[in-house]
Amino acid sequence: MPNARVDPLILPSVLPADLARLGDEVAGLCAAGVDRIQWDVMDGVFVPNLTFGPDVIAAARAHSTVGFEAHLMVANPDELLNRYAAAGCELLIVHAEACTHLHRTLSRIRDLGVLSGVALNPHTPASVVAHVLDETDLILAMTVNPGFGGQSYIRAVEPKITELRRMIDDSGQAIQLEVDGGITDTTIIGAAAAGADVFISGSWLYAHPSGKAAGVDLLRAEALHAARAARTEAA
Ligand code: DX5
Repeated sequence: MPNARVDPLILPSVLPADLARLGDEVAGLCAAGVDRIQWDVMDGVFVPNLTFGPDVIAAARAHSTVGFEAHLMVANPDELLNRYAAAGCELLIVHAEACTHLHRTLSRIRDLGVLSGVALNPHTPASVVAHVLDETDLILAMTVNPGFGGQSYIRAVEPKITELRRMIDDSGQAIQLEVDGGITDTTIIGAAAAGADVFISGSWLYAHPSGKAAGVDLLRAEALHAARAARTEAA
């Protein structure tokens, strides 16, 4: 089966940004060489935190040279899809745990003309997405429990990442496999070796002592090296 894996994509979470200077922060992330920007959308119901509305994302759009994705950590994603697509998000990620009719929700996202993504909390098995791969452009394996940045990476998710990688490769579809939560220059090695190809980093990237561009470069290099080593070992 063809390996659908892409070269590592490094995406920042906007959560740690100086929200009083959001436009400048978004421009700075683009200058740092990120591949896309992830907006952690939280409704205070699905997760305790409350964050970005569509108008905030629309206002930031003019300051960005890269695409936006919205990670919808919300209890009723179907009610919000149109607004986040209209705000300029090219990819909408919904949580499987929040979707009674996941296949229909993913199909509706694509009907809006944007890419569809499904997120799995750490406890949710890979089998949940087995019958929706034909409606999915990205799978997000959460490596923390959603709601806040700055948490520790849950290494126990790595076997699920490997299982998802196998499911994607067996499907022959170009589905990106993303991880989010506690991603650093160290934890990215295990996540990449397990099969992830898209990496979200928040607190580690913003705190990197040499700046965000150096952090992005380091994460990309570590992910590329780990993925190649894993492929060589598997061959
Ligand atoms: C959790 C958030 C965080 C964030 C990344 O709901 O999704 O995972 O994007 O934050 P760090 O990199 O600080 O874990």
